[in-house]
Amino acid sequence: MKTAIFSDVHSNLPALEAVLKDIQEKGASRLVCLGDTVGYNAEPVACLERVRAVCEFVLQGNHDLACAGDLAVDWFNAVAGAGIEYSRKQLSEEEKRYLRGLPLVKSAGGISYVHASLDEPSEFQYILSSATALAHFRKQQTLIAFSGHTHKPVVWLMDEHGRIGFKPAHEHVSMAEPWKFLVNVGSVGQNREGRPEACYVLFDPETREIEFRRIPYDVKTAQRRILAAGLPQVLALRLQRGI
Ligand SMILES: [Fe+2]
Repeated sequence: MKTAIFSDVHSNLPALEAVLKDIQEKGASRLVCLGDTVGYNAEPVACLERVRAVCEFVLQGNHDLACAGDLAVDWFNAVAGAGIEYSRKQLSEEEKRYLRGLPLVKSAGGISYVHASLDEPSEFQYILSSATALAHFRKQQTLIAFSGHTHKPVVWLMDEHGRIGFKPAHEHVSMAEPWKFLVNVGSVGQNREGRPEACYVLFDPETREIEFRRIPYDVKTAQRRILAAGLPQVLALRLQRGI
């Protein structure tokens, strides 16, 4: 059964809607969200409602925790902080309780899922180097794991000699080798690959193939809503540039 795995929606409803439409067209019946559904952009409530409705399970990210009031705003830079303050005002107490209660880690069908890293998941470390990837792999009990958080799609690997490497996030990536893999699925709502599309992953557990999907969406509408909400202009600008 094909699984769609996505992360870091960050309150960007036009991007989420485009991704959900693509998932449906591709025939994936199982959906998983790796967290940071809220924060940054204009529509935390609508995004959370959609994600809760369609996903088999949802993980907790650092922005989810902050928007629920359980992680201090000074953990973040000023622009991210503005998105968190805004989300806190929009979300109901029930929605904050839901975010607070989400798991940091999930294991299902021989696959691990985490927002940031299995190395101390509650510290939300950024896996952007061989050293941080190695620390993660030391805690990864399964052959395959999925994460988000950096908004930079890539497939990290640890071979039979314990060497760390990676495969670039081309459209199709095979994980056929008997190694450990960590797939970073990129971000739906705030691309940081230098391009404006929403990114997510389709995973076929039988072939162990990954398909990175980059989906164009209505960036202008997302930008208009960010500005109308009184959020920092830079949040709108970065969507177009993918930074
Ligand atoms: Fe995150």
